[in-house]
Amino acid sequence: MRAAAPSPAPFSARRLTPDLGAEISGLDLAQGVSPDVFRALHDAFLEYQVLVFPPQELPPGAQVAFARNFGEVQVHVMSMYHADGFPELYRLSNLDAKGNPDGKHPDKGTLYWHTDGSWRRITGQATIIYGEIVPSCGGETHFADMYGAYERLSDDWKRRIAGMRAVHNLDFSRTRRHGTDLMTEAQKRDAPPVEHPIVRRHPETGRTCLYLGDHAESIVGMAYDEGRALIEELNALAIQPNLTYEHRWRPHELIVWDNRCVQHRATEYDPTTERRVVRRCTVLGEEPVGIDGKP
Ligand SMILES: [Fe+2]
Repeated sequence: MRAAAPSPAPFSARRLTPDLGAEISGLDLAQGVSPDVFRALHDAFLEYQVLVFPPQELPPGAQVAFARNFGEVQVHVMSMYHADGFPELYRLSNLDAKGNPDGKHPDKGTLYWHTDGSWRRITGQATIIYGEIVPSCGGETHFADMYGAYERLSDDWKRRIAGMRAVHNLDFSRTRRHGTDLMTEAQKRDAPPVEHPIVRRHPETGRTCLYLGDHAESIVGMAYDEGRALIEELNALAIQPNLTYEHRWRPHELIVWDNRCVQHRATEYDPTTERRVVRRCTVLGEEPVGIDGKP
């Protein structure tokens, strides 16, 4: 008896850069995905780190249902961003009640390279973001590969930071970057500073990556200013033009990325004239471990 031929891939993946990112075509996500299709998608997620799905209608409930395939979806401590009766969704919008631009950027922290949820003990795994309304100019999302960032560090740097840990603190990055709508005392209690290794082993691929970004405030066991300088230097080294993918949004696209090995940022747009409404959810991952396998 002949073995059954392998079933054809349920979607096609087109690489977006030589290093990271793929466009995934052929799926209607609002219909849900079967376990087999999700397995194949998850393999693509681990391989390409960033998946872009072409424009399609995806209601809020279907977005949350799709996210749940990856794992438990985070309910964000900043509850003013909860959307559409789904506390799992975090809506960033610059529109007023009449649907006109209100002139305010809803979260300036997103303009700096970071990884979602690094300020939690259990950090972000996949972020899943849908563009309801996107600006005609600006408001892009950029991604940077942190496997490549680690691989390209000199041996001296690798030796220097091996075993080093950083304190990640949402109150620090929010206050520094946003300046208004600061965290309440209750929100601060819900999100106290946490420590994570700077060099992280990815729990599924086993590959090593750099894990810092804009929520990293200080280095454990190092004077504050010295730690700040080291974080700034490493954050700058981590972003390299040949290891990034810059996405210019079309309305109704969905993007999924792996926060464990990717940093991202949004670019500026004019919030007085342009409209931008995106909804996002983040799937919880795990407590990061270092190259020694310890948290
Ligand atoms: Fe983010």
